Amino acid sequence: MLAGKEGRATQKCMEILVALGRIYGAKRLVKVSSVQVSGVSYKNLGDAGIEFLSELAEDGKARVKSTLNPAGMSLSDWQSQGIRSSFASKQLEVIDAYRRLGLEITCTCTPYLAGNEPRFADHIAWSESSAVVFANSVLGARTNREGGPSALAASLTGRTPLYGYHLDENRIATLAVDVDAELKSAEDFSAMGYFIGEVAKTGVPYFRGIKHARTEDLKTLSAALASSGGVAMFHIEGLTPEAGIGAGKTESVLFTPRELRETTARLNDEGTPDFVSVGCPHCSLAELASIAKLLRGRRVTREFWVCCSREVKRQSDEAGYSKAIERSGAKFATDTCMVVAPIEDLGYRVVATNSAKACHYLRNSGLRVRFMSLERCVMGATKRG
Ligand code: F3S
Repeated sequence: MLAGKEGRATQKCMEILVALGRIYGAKRLVKVSSVQVSGVSYKNLGDAGIEFLSELAEDGKARVKSTLNPAGMSLSDWQSQGIRSSFASKQLEVIDAYRRLGLEITCTCTPYLAGNEPRFADHIAWSESSAVVFANSVLGARTNREGGPSALAASLTGRTPLYGYHLDENRIATLAVDVDAELKSAEDFSAMGYFIGEVAKTGVPYFRGIKHARTEDLKTLSAALASSGGVAMFHIEGLTPEAGIGAGKTESVLFTPRELRETTARLNDEGTPDFVSVGCPHCSLAELASIAKLLRGRRVTREFWVCCSREVKRQSDEAGYSKAIERSGAKFATDTCMVVAPIEDLGYRVVATNSAKACHYLRNSGLRVRFMSLERCVMGATKRG
């Protein structure tokens, strides 16, 4: 591949992987069973990104199951989101290039809820940071926090350099976290992840004292850990598959109701929300069921996006939740989310959301944020009637 015998795109991809492997001291490459590629929104890619993808698409093709992160708009319903046609046509060019490259146009950050679920110990190359943490920690698959280009290079070659989280020794906990707070909701897990991400930085936290956690709690914990810090993996004693590796002689930190309260407060700016969005990371079917229930008998009074993958939306259609959600005036934001869509250009200023990760990145885009529970998001976006 490196010699160019399998085409120019493959050669270019192999050059990227070999360079990465050299930088990180990888002894060899390893085959991957799946890839997840970020860098899909035109907001982040720009014209240079389109050029890069189009060039690869001339003779490159995915060799393993490869799925995509959210785009900058809903691919089928961008008009109702207020997206400008100048942005939409560029976004569709990006998608077209990925389609020619043979990637599945899933456009979700929760591929593990939409048909791309690696098995324990699988080597994979994923680049959405929340999905990376979930895959390493909850599924026991092995991936580094890939960038968009290195994940795409893995897709087109079927390989990734063997270093970092692919190796046992780097999956051992570096920081013990004693949880002495009652975590009552996914939002509490999100706030805790945000706090611990800052402390752990690029380390591996080992949580003690958590008795129970749902998939929804773990997905939002994963997202928050990866946004305030560079975490790629965590363990929860008694719950996650590699927790048996143990905390060893690590430093420890205490998470109490005080840290929970203070982190929640820190994620709240001044102002009344003019935009409400839930589903960061993309909603599960169970979350859509809860939203449908909360919306019963209510009408939307401000822009309200429910972000999820097309696959989970399809399941929700079958289960009857979608109708109940749309009847209220709430909009499904499939293929996209409040962070990667250009909502700051649509005139919104204050966003309410139940995700610490979304708060973090929305602030970076110059928006003010309000971090609140799913229930308060729904109540704040609607009124009875
Ligand atoms: Fe997913 Fe967007 Fe959040 S990509 S993790 S919903 S910032």
